[in-house]
Amino acid sequence: MKAVVYNKKGSPDKLIYCEIDKPVPKDSEVLIKVRAVSANAADYRSMKMGIIPARKIFGADIAGSIESTGKNIHQFKPGDEVMGDLASFGFGGFAEYVTAPEKALILKPVKISFEEAASIPMAALTALQALRDKGQIRKGHKVLIVGSSGGVGTFAVQIARYFGATVTAVCSSNNLDQSLSLGADNVLDYTKEDFTKSHLRYDLIVAVNGNHPLSAYKRILTPDGRYVMVGGALLQIFRSLLFGKLMSFGSKKMLSLSAKANQTDLEFIVRLVEEGTIKPVIDRRYKLDKTADAMRYLIEGHARGKVVIVMDSE
Ligand SMILES: NC(=O)c1ccc[n+]([C@@H]2O[C@H](COP(=O)([O-])OP(=O)(O)OC[C@H]3O[C@@H](n4cnc5c(N)ncnc54)[C@H](OP(=O)(O)O)[C@@H]3O)[C@@H](O)[C@H]2O)c1
Repeated sequence: MKAVVYNKKGSPDKLIYCEIDKPVPKDSEVLIKVRAVSANAADYRSMKMGIIPARKIFGADIAGSIESTGKNIHQFKPGDEVMGDLASFGFGGFAEYVTAPEKALILKPVKISFEEAASIPMAALTALQALRDKGQIRKGHKVLIVGSSGGVGTFAVQIARYFGATVTAVCSSNNLDQSLSLGADNVLDYTKEDFTKSHLRYDLIVAVNGNHPLSAYKRILTPDGRYVMVGGALLQIFRSLLFGKLMSFGSKKMLSLSAKANQTDLEFIVRLVEEGTIKPVIDRRYKLDKTADAMRYLIEGHARGKVVIVMDSE
């Protein structure tokens, strides 16, 4: 099969498109013919940290059809269309075929295309868990989404609206219209104003991107407000992980998210997509042999939604 193999620590230049053996599913795995796979920061951050997946293939968010099943598989059968996040199961999605345990997957509804399905798992579950679990979002909450226009941000705006919040989206000038069209009530251009200096206060801040001091975020929370760090510049991540607990004295909470893939949350999001309440935003599509270009584009940090690799069979 064709695959994009990653051999060494380094940049996307080390992603090599080549021919390798098709994987063989273990008794508790299925073999999936990949139809689409999306790129995530988890891929390039793992590359930078020198993490190499077992089969030397990145790509977590996959959608495809089941080719064959191991003898202990009961949930799926050949021909089923599935989707899931394989980051906790060795990645492997930048390839024509991948194996996965059934707990990593759910059935893909016919109404959702393979490329839409591949764009959902990691980004949408991160947004959901940041808002609902860490953020304890409630109807009527004033929610600030910092970094509203990338993979996670575009889902976060829509999911916050679904929960009945009033959403203020922070992005650059190019993406203000996009955030409004996804349902944001207000938009702020981070290239023109510093939202942390405003008199406005928020019940929940989800920091998807950017880099502001924790004290600045804390200042613009309501008295019982919550800040949830999802990602962004390394400084934002380190500050939140190191000082979040210390800064959580009093009723304001400064929290960090580590999203966990699971079938229940994925099914919940997929229902919202199926009924049209939220829609995946796909910025760019690439062929498998251009995966390195897709990663380079994502690393630039200004994707407008998700970046998806679509197989020739699509
Ligand atoms: N905690 C977790 O469990 C978890 C899970 C998944 C992802 N993450 C992290 O979440 C972050 C976002 O992931 P993603 O998939 O959404 O990435 P992405 O798609 O690459 O995000 C790109 C977006 O970030 C925006 N951006 C860049 N600089 C910004 C700034 N200074 N202020 C506000 N927005 C800015 C860009 O908007 P403009 O072009 O408008 O600047 C662009 O739309 C990454 O750091 C990732 O590692 C964390």
